[in-house]
Amino acid sequence: MRVSNPSRVHELSPEEQSIYRQLDPTKIPQHVAIIMDGNGRWAGKRALKRFLGHQQGAESVQYVVETASRINLPWLTLYAFSLENNLRRPKPEVSFLMKLLKSYLIGNVKRMNDNNVRMAYIGRTHDLPQEVQDTMQWASESTAQNTGTTLTLALNYGARSEIVDAVRKILTDLTTEAHTRGCSVEDLLGAGVLDSLDESSISRNLYTAHMPDPDLLIRTSGEQRISNFLLWQVSYSEIYVTDRLWPDFRGPHLLEAIAAYQRRERRFGGLAESFTDEAIDSLQPADEVAEEIKDHLLPRPAHALTRR
Ligand code: FPP
Repeated sequence: MRVSNPSRVHELSPEEQSIYRQLDPTKIPQHVAIIMDGNGRWAGKRALKRFLGHQQGAESVQYVVETASRINLPWLTLYAFSLENNLRRPKPEVSFLMKLLKSYLIGNVKRMNDNNVRMAYIGRTHDLPQEVQDTMQWASESTAQNTGTTLTLALNYGARSEIVDAVRKILTDLTTEAHTRGCSVEDLLGAGVLDSLDESSISRNLYTAHMPDPDLLIRTSGEQRISNFLLWQVSYSEIYVTDRLWPDFRGPHLLEAIAAYQRRERRFGGLAESFTDEAIDSLQPADEVAEEIKDHLLPRPAHALTRR
């Protein structure tokens, strides 16, 4: 957990303050990830070009980031441009999104610094146009000293490719290790290196190695999909879907999502907190339960049990 910064909740708008007052400040999520969707529909509803939806979407990004920083949210990750967007959208739309990203960064670095926000990126960013990469690097270097919210933009990002990249890195590291030790990869495998490969080995090699998994995943515009975003990391995230289109999503809506998150009970595959140790101790032993229910099970005809 990072060192907390002085609270700036007094800078929230009156609408945000009234939602914030209902929150438990000790249970603000550490990491919120957002699938920003609906820019095109927002524009379509107004008979505007899709580009204008994206432009308005960029405004929402800045509003949401600033609200996040005021409530001291440590990590905010936004799905800004997927690998699939890059491959499947018409070229003019892709190049508009690149231009928009560049101008967003150039236009907002000062505000990021005023709000103590640090910029970071995940994804195959090395495949983006060089001038965009240069601006991205400039923005992250210009905000590197900030200690508040880390805003991570997922750019040219795909979760499956992220896992592929992690596996490639693990195999490359293994080859390097064999080389350094003057032995073969087979020797290392024979010595049992695979036994030490576990879930944390994968996590450590993902783009997100340095951050906690998202507690809350928000998706705008009503689709109930993950769309290849942080597949590994959202295993236990709470998912909040709103019909609101991204260009209409602002600080109060982030706080409403956090309020909904705080009403959820997270179990991570375990039991509800209301299940006390006492209640667990008084559970009937499994073999007794099995004995008790066996007469309630329908007898199955023999053919139903044969393998097909
Ligand atoms: C989905 O809208 C959103 C995107 C393609 C990417 C998100 C991009 C932005 C919010 C714009 C700029 C971002 C930054 C960081 C400057 P869609 O086009 O898929 O909407 P639709 O499903 O309604 O067509």
